[in-house]
Amino acid sequence: MRATRFAFAMETAGLALPELGDIAVFAPTMGDDLSAMPAARLLVITGFKPDYDAFAVQGLRVAITAPEPAATQAAPSTALVCLPRARDRARLMIAQANATVAPGGMVLVDGQKTDGVDGMLRDLRGRVTLDGPVSKAHGKLAWFMAQPGLFQDWAALATPRVLADGFRTAPGVFSADGPDPGSVALAAALPAKLGGRVADLGAGWGFLSAAILAREGVRSLHLVEADHAALTAAQENITDPRAVFHWADATRFVPPQKLDTIVMNPPFHTGRGADPELGVAFIRAAAGMLTPGGVLWMVANRHLPYERALVGLFQEVSDQAMGGAYKITRAARPIVAAKTTAAKTRARR
Ligand SMILES: C[S@@+](CC[C@H](N)C(=O)[O-])C[C@H]1O[C@@H](n2cnc3c(N)ncnc32)[C@H](O)[C@@H]1O
Repeated sequence: MRATRFAFAMETAGLALPELGDIAVFAPTMGDDLSAMPAARLLVITGFKPDYDAFAVQGLRVAITAPEPAATQAAPSTALVCLPRARDRARLMIAQANATVAPGGMVLVDGQKTDGVDGMLRDLRGRVTLDGPVSKAHGKLAWFMAQPGLFQDWAALATPRVLADGFRTAPGVFSADGPDPGSVALAAALPAKLGGRVADLGAGWGFLSAAILAREGVRSLHLVEADHAALTAAQENITDPRAVFHWADATRFVPPQKLDTIVMNPPFHTGRGADPELGVAFIRAAAGMLTPGGVLWMVANRHLPYERALVGLFQEVSDQAMGGAYKITRAARPIVAAKTTAAKTRARR
């Protein structure tokens, strides 16, 4: 989609990228085709680990954060912002893109209608002279000339937000404005005592982790989170020495030792689309991380189809609470761990 719009803008709207200098691409997702731009000049900027890894594997240069604001000849000449749906994060990225490119360089803003591109272009028109936009494949692409200091108020969105209970969050992270009701319900449903080695998969800014660490018996807690901004907030919120932080894809994470308990509110979106398969991948990964007697506690929207995966992967599955839109499930004794133990026992005989 992005590539189609790009080609269309070049053919029909006179879009011509600066001929030299890096092209910083903010927040593309792994399915985005960037081949219309010269690979050697691309610098992909993303804090989402699965996307980071996918672009790195393609041989592209990748960074978690934008390069320092333009001051030198080496600053990128061009920035392309792939709009995320969260408006504050999108604004912050545009401010960072404007500050990163060399003065007079070009900032392109591309997004799907469903990600709010129309509203963002309206906001931009009040601040800059926009070229384009071209409209294609259910989205729009527009561009403007970078001007230092133009988006100070949007740049200020980088300041962590502090919630009423003292937790810090960041723009665009999950439940940035306050704890998710599903996570609140799960935190309340956890038993007084948990196993010693615990993980919070998709830990976000650490709401569930704080509840886990308040339970008895916890000796270590792995917070596994793919969104770098969320994990950074979690590191500020959780200062307990038992916490270990991992910027990682939870579906591939391998804990240093098998775990006694996993607690999670799994994501159900991939990039910009709903994807219950991601939740299923979390459940499968959790089953693989637990000891034979290990226990998974999870919360999910009631309508999400996780039943089959849970029953296929755990020997004991029980619904603990069905409050409103959410369902809390306890799943214990993973089948994969039981099979591995049985195979080891057979091998020893
Ligand atoms: C529903 S939120 C729950 C966040 C937090 N545990 C809470 O209760 O507030 C799911 C979290 O999973 C993260 N996430 C998405 N895909 C991931 C992946 N592949 N690996 C690790 N974390 C991921 C998201 O960034 C998000 O923070």
